[in-house]
Amino acid sequence: MLKPFIAGNWKMNLTLKESKELAASLRTGVEGMNGVDVGVFPPFVFIEGVHSVLKGSSIILGAQNMYWEDKGAFTGEISGDMIKEVGCTHVILGHSERRHVFGETDSMINSKLSAAFAGDVMPIFCLGEKLDERESGDTFKVIERQLVAGLDGLTTEQVSRLTIAYEPVWAIGTGKTATPAQAQEVHARIRALLEDSYGKDVSARIRIQYGGSAKPDNAAELLSQPDINGLLVGGASLKKDDFLKIVSAAFE
Ligand code: 13P
Repeated sequence: MLKPFIAGNWKMNLTLKESKELAASLRTGVEGMNGVDVGVFPPFVFIEGVHSVLKGSSIILGAQNMYWEDKGAFTGEISGDMIKEVGCTHVILGHSERRHVFGETDSMINSKLSAAFAGDVMPIFCLGEKLDERESGDTFKVIERQLVAGLDGLTTEQVSRLTIAYEPVWAIGTGKTATPAQAQEVHARIRALLEDSYGKDVSARIRIQYGGSAKPDNAAELLSQPDINGLLVGGASLKKDDFLKIVSAAFE
């Protein structure tokens, strides 16, 4: 079994003080839970503060986005080297809010994934269908397009180190969780596509997280599915008790 990976995507929430307090509580709360990888993804400007709190702990620290260029005249953007300098080892790329609120395309996300690997930052690569795409029976088609385009040009070795997050857009922040069976069906499809392109060994090694209204009361059931290897948690990651209950569900 793959080691579960529970990640908290804090999105554009909290204050600096709240971020550091949450990080400190998580640091204490996850002590002894060795069989689970736990990560937090604060807003850019809070990363350094959160890093100062988490330094030396096992909690993974990452950013919610990065740009594909190293430096230059790209007002408002942040590079992989910059997030690394303030303590990040990981980065979320291709999140549905980046795709659908900010217009990121598969090809932009592909450039970001390549840059992350080149800069030695580990990506969580997000994909997922919108409600109309699910209702018109296009879920698998959309997932395949996002996966193939996103991973274009990456080496098998790079792909083997990826984490993928399946986040159906209709389940994000809506309280409408995909049923464990609905999520498992797509996760299995993603793994089968990975196996076709990169082989069984690689596909078996890639952790596929589910994201979309993951909560303490549905975490265990989602995590019991054979191809769900972790959760990417939004809203519930902002409350220490909820997030720690989710981590415990993975630990158990
Ligand atoms: P919610 O858990 O708030 O639905 O958000 C999921 C998500 O988008 C995590 O990246």
